[in-house]
Amino acid sequence: MSLEDEFTDVIAKAMRGLGIDVPGLSEASGIAVGEIETLLGGQMKEFTARAISPALGLDAEALVALPRYLPEPIAIPGIRRIELPFGKWTVNAWEVLHDGIHILFDAGTGERDILEKISPQGLDALLITHAHPDHIGGVVALAAAGVKVISETEALTTGNLSFGSLELEAVDLSGHCTPATGYFINGLERQLFVAGDAIFAGSMGGCKTREAHDLAGRTLRAAFSKAKPGCIILPGHGPATTISEELIGNPFHPRFA
Ligand SMILES: [Fe+2]
Repeated sequence: MSLEDEFTDVIAKAMRGLGIDVPGLSEASGIAVGEIETLLGGQMKEFTARAISPALGLDAEALVALPRYLPEPIAIPGIRRIELPFGKWTVNAWEVLHDGIHILFDAGTGERDILEKISPQGLDALLITHAHPDHIGGVVALAAAGVKVISETEALTTGNLSFGSLELEAVDLSGHCTPATGYFINGLERQLFVAGDAIFAGSMGGCKTREAHDLAGRTLRAAFSKAKPGCIILPGHGPATTISEELIGNPFHPRFA
């Protein structure tokens, strides 16, 4: 099991989100261009990483520790991470089975990939976090099989959704993608938070503009303010984690803490 992003991805995402290039980062941090390029090339230089972190809004200690960071493995009965192909990477769909209720979050990239992993029979609903192609590829096939599809916009408009003993609360997670919706799931032994690409263990989904990057931090902070202690994050890529672990181990945490 490995994280979705390496420290070089985190730095590149922070630079892109802030619209800062290597010369700009050099000027802001006082670190030579060549040193920053070495770091971006994959060689962890702790002094350099610490020195550039403030200008990137990153937590320096978390960035330096990221190559060794992995959240505690989480196993909850009825919750399954379905890892689906996405080019040379993978993307998650999350299955929740509880008290006869069967719901799915996101649908992978390929039109039929998800159908190789899950039967649409008895599936109460497919809920979408955001409409990037790696999350909605299977929507048409599942809808054609009779599955009720709830889009991110519909969920957000509705707010609270009930499935048997499960109570879902949809929250705005715009930023990486707008619109985007996160789902708190209450009624299990621990609260779950299906986050799409708003946050990963040790990283966040990339943003193309400064405005989107700022929005991503604000919406995630607002969402986390509603979380219960022990809340588990089920992200769109990479392993499950918890809010409490991300508030320490995620280099982006100053943006959402
Ligand atoms: Fe995405």
